[in-house]
Amino acid sequence: PVTGAGAGAATCPVAFPLRRPGRPFPPPEYADYRDGGEPVRSELPSGPVWLVTRHADVRAVLTDPRISADPSRPGFPKAARTGGAPSADEVPGWFVSMDPPEHDRFRRTLIPEFTVRKVRALRPEIQQIVDDRIEAILAKDGAADLIEDFALPVPSLVIAGMLGVPRADRDFFEAKTRVLVTLSSSDEERDAATAALLRYLGRLIRIKERRPGTDLISRLAATGTLSRQELSGVAMLLLIAGHETTANNIGLGIVQLLTNPQWIGDDRVVEELLRYYSVADLVAFRVALADVEIGGRTIRAGEGILPLLAAANHDDDAFDGAGAFDPERSARSHVAFGYGVHQCLGQNLVRLEMEIAYRTLFDRIPTLRLAVPADDLRVKYDGVLFGLHELPVTWG
Ligand code: HEM
Repeated sequence: PVTGAGAGAATCPVAFPLRRPGRPFPPPEYADYRDGGEPVRSELPSGPVWLVTRHADVRAVLTDPRISADPSRPGFPKAARTGGAPSADEVPGWFVSMDPPEHDRFRRTLIPEFTVRKVRALRPEIQQIVDDRIEAILAKDGAADLIEDFALPVPSLVIAGMLGVPRADRDFFEAKTRVLVTLSSSDEERDAATAALLRYLGRLIRIKERRPGTDLISRLAATGTLSRQELSGVAMLLLIAGHETTANNIGLGIVQLLTNPQWIGDDRVVEELLRYYSVADLVAFRVALADVEIGGRTIRAGEGILPLLAAANHDDDAFDGAGAFDPERSARSHVAFGYGVHQCLGQNLVRLEMEIAYRTLFDRIPTLRLAVPADDLRVKYDGVLFGLHELPVTWG
């Protein structure tokens, strides 16, 4: 975390990233920025950045072709002291950091794999993974940590299964991912984690080229549309994006349901949990390629922009009484998955995983309860993603 103003700041700069106060999220400062109307100038380790908080403005940023997602552009903001998201120069195939038209080729190749219909076909496999984890929890002595024992392994095993990454290698790819989503990781740690993941996936791809399976990596390798290097980057992006995000949302959702049990069994909670917690609040970094007007302020070419997705999702102009958790509202227009060309590719998968996870967990363990007061749960301060460190529970 960094504080302080750049000299000559146009408005009063704010300390950012903010310390997260715990649940409820987002930090109360977000409302102040939003009420101010205009984007707020802040400082990141990489330099000045404009924080955009209103729902309409966030959507405008994420759909403006004069605003780039490419970290190799001058002025691109970085949340970490150094590093930050890799560019496609560093990791070929890392298409979340590409602008159209380069981005389109990857997105077009992958979209058919993540349609509602394709994802629905995974239901039995996801259900089996969830059932197995619950069996393992019930075999314990009346105490479990639902982050370690449930929220993390479920999406991790699902994405590994989809990609054809051996489940036995979970510890390896989860540990490397954790380095990449932790703001305080050093450059060396990030580079080493990236290199290790790319080496590992490169080896896996070569094995699958010789002996293809039915998994996504094998099928992509067989089409020959992506180079081996690009495929490694794509696989790395899917592996990383596919588990920590969902894990954090599943964990926070369990607490939300345990403390608001009237919503247990209602699938409408899923969309509202996505909006309410917006775990990927700090991921959609951008830079202006030309002077653009956003929310009544001109952002100059070369200036960094950070749309705060959680702030947009708590904007009363977009959601009535946005601060309240209300699964009966229509939350579909939330931007928890971003907006525009980079809108989350995995969103259908996320919805299905969350629905199956909550339904099965509360059906199978109806006496589930927190083992510590909800206010004592430790919140991740140091991550790109919002979430809980542990979730101790008991039952019976
Ligand atoms: C993109 C959020 C789960 C794969 C994004 C973006 C957000 C996001 C905000 C846009 C980033 C930007 O505009 O810069 C989330 C949340 C998740 C989740 C909140 C869970 C609760 C997943 C899963 C997968 C996935 C399970 C994979 C299977 C991707 C990919 C992109 C992306 C590949 C880049 C898409 C592109 O650039 O075209 N996600 N995500 N995400 N997400 Fe997710």
